[in-house]
Amino acid sequence: MNNSEALPQTFDLVIKNIHLLTMDKKTHQQAYGLITDAAIAVLNGEISWLGQAADLPDIPCKNVVDGEGQFLSPGLIDCHTHLVFAGSRADEFEKRLNGVSYKEIAEQGGGILSTVNATRDASFEELLVLAQKRVKTLMSEGVTCIEIKSGYGLNTETEVKMLKVAQALEQSFPVEIRRTFLGAHAVPPEFKNNPDGYIDYLITDTLPTLVEQDLVDAVDGFCENIGFSMEQIKKLFDAAKKYNLPVKLHAEQLSDSGGTGLVVDMEGLSADHVEYLSEKDCIKLSHSVTIPVLLPGAFHSLSETQLPPIKILRELNVPMAIGSDYNPGSSPLCSLKLMLSLACTHFKLTPEESLLGVTCNAAKALGLKNVGALKVGYRADFCLWDIKHPAELSYTFGINPLTRMWIRGQTCFL
Ligand code: NIG
Ligand code: FE
Repeated sequence: MNNSEALPQTFDLVIKNIHLLTMDKKTHQQAYGLITDAAIAVLNGEISWLGQAADLPDIPCKNVVDGEGQFLSPGLIDCHTHLVFAGSRADEFEKRLNGVSYKEIAEQGGGILSTVNATRDASFEELLVLAQKRVKTLMSEGVTCIEIKSGYGLNTETEVKMLKVAQALEQSFPVEIRRTFLGAHAVPPEFKNNPDGYIDYLITDTLPTLVEQDLVDAVDGFCENIGFSMEQIKKLFDAAKKYNLPVKLHAEQLSDSGGTGLVVDMEGLSADHVEYLSEKDCIKLSHSVTIPVLLPGAFHSLSETQLPPIKILRELNVPMAIGSDYNPGSSPLCSLKLMLSLACTHFKLTPEESLLGVTCNAAKALGLKNVGALKVGYRADFCLWDIKHPAELSYTFGINPLTRMWIRGQTCFL
């Protein structure tokens, strides 16, 4: 239903005295899709009406909230995390600051493989408790939808365990979880020097098991000189397509390996990291459905210097998403709010581009159609922010301006 269609008999929730950051630039041309002096109404967990408060239809509603002149945005979406894991890599952080590179640590059997050992050793319950704490932390800053990758199991048993933990988080919290299979994250010790054999194992054993248990929404990989080649990833993606699973890729993080071109050719959801993305592949992206996902947390934590080609992407009107990439190695930063700040300071995104990156563009990167903007018919996932200007969301960090949050029209208590 849109505002001009027949209105309902009642609303479940009305929030008045607010400014709306609709992030729906097609309908509302102002920056952030702003509507000042606004109101919004919810019915059955969806947005039923929104607009200027003066035009709010006179429809009965038992639950009317005074927003006290604050700003209401869509719930934030973290479209790239690895938040199910055990162990810590603080020792590697220290090593890196003593001059050993991320790549060298990985080549010495540390890095991802160190987290694999800890995650294999942890029980389902231990992993769940750890992950719950992290989800709660993200939610406390306004996150209502989270993508979680496997990839610290690297065998069928542990990949299943990780994605079952991700699934169980939806029982613990009202948040929406999207589950991504990242078996092609690193070559496990069982397949040392045999990455092709490992890819075959993922295709014949792990992926079918996960599909059978309905644990996967998408398939991801790490296409890199320390990860997997294009050919190996392509083989895995062809298998994913047989199950009608969308694909996405860690691409162009440490070198221009061409992964983005592959994911575009396969009409994938997203190409993530993209620091080394070439101009040619920016153009390719601009003609595709694939969304580049910027991960300023990894760039920051690894003290990278190669910036993603933001200017070119902007000129080509490519929608850019932002994720926390929360993980124990390259981005031990469990805060999407911090990413808004880092995207501005490191990548020179505008505060508006940053907020689009964690709302409507993050929804696109996950292939979700009814979240990420304030629009009639969209899910009533809202954040109420105690701010005076929308740029404050990227400008400040440390004082949490979130005053209230709703998911599917229900108040969230954390
Ligand atoms: O997105 N690049 C590969 N994967 C992760 C890092 C995971 C890890 O270091 O544990 C990333 O940066
Ligand atoms: Fe990642």
